[in-house]
Amino acid sequence: MGTFYITTPIYYPNAPPHLGHAYTTVYADILARYHRLVGDDTFFLTGTDEHGLKLQRTAEKRGVHPKEFVDGMADVYRKYWEMLSISYDFFIRTTDPKHENVVREAIRRLYSKGYIYKARYSGWYCVDCEKFYSEGEYEVVNGKPYCPIHGKPLEYLEEETYYFKLSEFKEYLKEVLSKKSIVYPENYAREVLSKLETVGLRDVSIARPKSRVWWAIEIPWDPNYTVYVWFDALLNYLTGVEYLRNEERFRKYWSEVHHVIGKDILWFHTVIWFSILKALDLPPPKRLIVHAFVINKGVKMGKSAGNVIAIEDLTNRYGSTDSVRYLIARIFNLYKDVEVTTELLDSIHNTELADNLGNLVRRVGVLALRKLRGIVENRGLDRDLEDRIESTLKVYKESMESYEVSRAITAVMNLLREANAYINKVRPWEKSEPHKELYTLLEVLKYSSRMLAPIIPNTANKLSISLGFAIANPYEEKIGSQESYKVTSAPILFKKV
Ligand code: MSP
Repeated sequence: MGTFYITTPIYYPNAPPHLGHAYTTVYADILARYHRLVGDDTFFLTGTDEHGLKLQRTAEKRGVHPKEFVDGMADVYRKYWEMLSISYDFFIRTTDPKHENVVREAIRRLYSKGYIYKARYSGWYCVDCEKFYSEGEYEVVNGKPYCPIHGKPLEYLEEETYYFKLSEFKEYLKEVLSKKSIVYPENYAREVLSKLETVGLRDVSIARPKSRVWWAIEIPWDPNYTVYVWFDALLNYLTGVEYLRNEERFRKYWSEVHHVIGKDILWFHTVIWFSILKALDLPPPKRLIVHAFVINKGVKMGKSAGNVIAIEDLTNRYGSTDSVRYLIARIFNLYKDVEVTTELLDSIHNTELADNLGNLVRRVGVLALRKLRGIVENRGLDRDLEDRIESTLKVYKESMESYEVSRAITAVMNLLREANAYINKVRPWEKSEPHKELYTLLEVLKYSSRMLAPIIPNTANKLSISLGFAIANPYEEKIGSQESYKVTSAPILFKKV
């Protein structure tokens, strides 16, 4: 039994989550559920990033206190994650006093170690990104600097601030990013390395004057300043496993941490995060899994682009949480952006869930009830399909362990397709006692359900009840060892759209 700690970014709760946020969260949930299934001691952390100028302004616009606003929005996030069957172990909020203490203690340590100094800052800021952009990084529209991600004009800022000596970590970062395979897929590490070379590494401002950004954690030694929201936010990954509160528990999980992020926040999670960790004498994360974007009409899906797909629209269209989870997992892509269209989602839903899986379940269930009154005995099983179950288990595991969820799903879908071909070939409806045929098919469905349980957990449960097996670690028992099946119903799992 291993240990597995997985995190999502903590989301800005200025608006409800959309498909883009669900993309990361569902994927992380699948990895968490897979590790629990195979017996790992698993901890899954998600939450909300509640401080900073963006939240301060959103609340101001609505005429409510930011605390009241984020309290309501954190509930909204929890409600959405419940709707998508997200099995997080802890929901972290950066306004939690336990987290605020970690932030104060961490920044105090860096200050006393000499990593923080005061100086003047001037530059262009994007409030939506909560990030300064230097020349060459921003776009120029009509002679004015614009955010390359949000397409909005940047704001010019000039103020006294506290800097973190990021530039001191350049060699460390180069070494960690090039030698250790932390970043997956690797091309993202190369991207950061080349940016380190071409743009270089400058110290980063980690404080804001309180007069401008008051909705944030106060700098412990200077009440005129607050902590920069990204410094605050990144530390959530430490707070979530009780950094400074339970050293033993913290060490155990930290050594196995897997961060899942979108490529938009790669720089923060490599350059800035690894340096903060190093300055705190902590090792970098074990893995940083980076994915590309969900795009709609050619641009990154997002509130400011105005092209979001609402999560509830998807659950309504496809009729179940599991359909939405499946669709996300199937289109999920670490390497390239994926354009989502209704046609694409409809066709995956119809051919893979309704036809391939749904029809097989329905046919096997109906035949078992009609032909054998639901009691299917083990009178041997088809060798070819047994081998196929075996080889699918292998590919599935390799894929899951290398974070390639959609490849794992494809393997299971191929197995189900072969089972559908088998049923057509052996025609159990023409036999008086098709034990061997139906037993073989139930074994396929049992193993498929177990493998698909992290992706479509509610469907897997339904299948285990209707067909008579347990959802358990698929690698623990031998194929063909279940004595018999007691099939009680032949459910229709998915309706075509
Ligand atoms: N609060 C910061 C993260 C702090 S983590 C220490 C933040 N929040 S966010 O609400 O903007 O969420 C960003 C994350 O949401 C992305 O990194 C990505 O995981 C996910 N996505 C949001 N829109 C997305 C797409 N259109 N496509 C894919 N993922 C997207 O940044």
